[in-house]
Amino acid sequence: MRDDDKRLAAEAAVAEVRDGMLVGLGTGSTVAFAIAALIARGARIETVATSIDSAAKARAGGLVVRDFADVARVDLTIDGADEVDTRLLAIKGAGGAMLREKIVAAASARMVVIADGSKRVAAIGAAKLPVEVLPFARAFVAERLAALGAAVTVRDGVTDNGNIVLDARFGAIADPAGLARAIDAVPGALGHGLFLTEVDAAYIADAGVVTRLER
Ligand code: A5P
Repeated sequence: MRDDDKRLAAEAAVAEVRDGMLVGLGTGSTVAFAIAALIARGARIETVATSIDSAAKARAGGLVVRDFADVARVDLTIDGADEVDTRLLAIKGAGGAMLREKIVAAASARMVVIADGSKRVAAIGAAKLPVEVLPFARAFVAERLAALGAAVTVRDGVTDNGNIVLDARFGAIADPAGLARAIDAVPGALGHGLFLTEVDAAYIADAGVVTRLER
């Protein structure tokens, strides 16, 4: 059921893709449906990927995946989210790809989120907020996040960039922009999952019905 909704949201977003576009591929189980839809459609596009996993899925289906290091502008990026509210504020990064996801989103003329209805929230903040951290700075950044009010846990493993992830639980986020600025100001915190300005639209599917939210 939830997978059906993920697929429907993904297919609705893929309908925005036109031949000749450079398309940003997000990361996660919902994006996997978007990649599958692009492959099934035989889309004549080029892509950049926000993770090794998404690049592998796209290449396996015959899509062209360019090295983002050579790319400054993307036409349209399709990505998932862990939470999204009606103002299109989002928390991302449960899969640990939020740093590359934010860079690619910032490079994109348009960024759309795809999600099943469980991701829609009245206000972001219940989900853990992932922060990518230089391993050298682990304890220092963890203490700074705790001082900002978070319960912090260290995630196992490393990101595609070789860094660690600290999961910061704030419970509720009264001032998302202020929190984003505060985390951005901590040396060693390389990126975080607060997406406050990047999302232009969201396709959210609930029990088979897709709703589009536009900024
Ligand atoms: C990856 O790091 C995340 O930002 C994902 O986009 C997000 O967690 C959504 O993933 P699912 O589509 O698997 O729920």
